Amino acid sequence: MDISEVIRSTFAARQFTDDPVPDDVLVRMLEHARFAPSGGNRQGWHVIVVRDPEIRAAIAQAAERPAKRYVAMQQAGEGPWNAVYPSSVTDESAAHLPSPRRLMDPYLNAPVLLAVVVDLGEVASVDKELDRVGVISGGSIYPFVWSLLLMARNEGYGGTLTTIPVANEPDLKPILGLPDHYAIAAFLPIGKPVKQLTKLKRGPVDGFTTIDRLDGESFGG
Ligand SMILES: Cc1cc2nc3c(=O)[nH]c(=O)nc-3n(C[C@H](O)[C@H](O)[C@H](O)COP(=O)(O)O)c2cc1C
Repeated sequence: MDISEVIRSTFAARQFTDDPVPDDVLVRMLEHARFAPSGGNRQGWHVIVVRDPEIRAAIAQAAERPAKRYVAMQQAGEGPWNAVYPSSVTDESAAHLPSPRRLMDPYLNAPVLLAVVVDLGEVASVDKELDRVGVISGGSIYPFVWSLLLMARNEGYGGTLTTIPVANEPDLKPILGLPDHYAIAAFLPIGKPVKQLTKLKRGPVDGFTTIDRLDGESFGG
């Protein structure tokens, strides 16, 4: 596929046909994604192909509580888990909600589930001493994660970058055999999407680009 088409049509696929994802497709995805950038080219990524149904069930289970909170935060008109404004939602206040299966079932049903983990000893976190949530660390892992999804799309497959179970990372680390200095960056359910979206909802360039300053003249309109 043309790269522009791949970039513009890689959507969050959560429902999949029963078609398997052959190992050679997975290998090609990994083979291309390894060319992603990382701070200092340290390449701290590791991918776990999660096949054990019990481990998948544990991941789906880990998603349940934070997924309920996510839904409750949306219902309260909040930006779920935003890094600035306090939330009115707690685990307790969200507990009565039905299990958000849409955010849990892909871990059980996707033909392939990848866990992308990162060695924090290999990540350049140049903002770690600032008085705000860290964002730079993710820059050494998410280009790799996104390249996996772009490659899946290029091969006729799809998936979603998911993070909700990571709210319960301490429960999942022993299950995945992760030592303290590893973090879970994403779980990627992968398969053949039931439907292929082609028009993704995104804001226009001049809505997020300005000249010289955040409040500068808008660019690209
Ligand atoms: C950092 C990040 C975390 C996300 N976590 C989840 C998740 O836990 N579960 C999920 O179903 N989707 C998750 N998503 C997918 C987003 O909901 C999706 O990319 C967005 O809604 C755009 O969807 P679209 O490409 O289909 O338009 C996440 C996306 C990102 C970038």
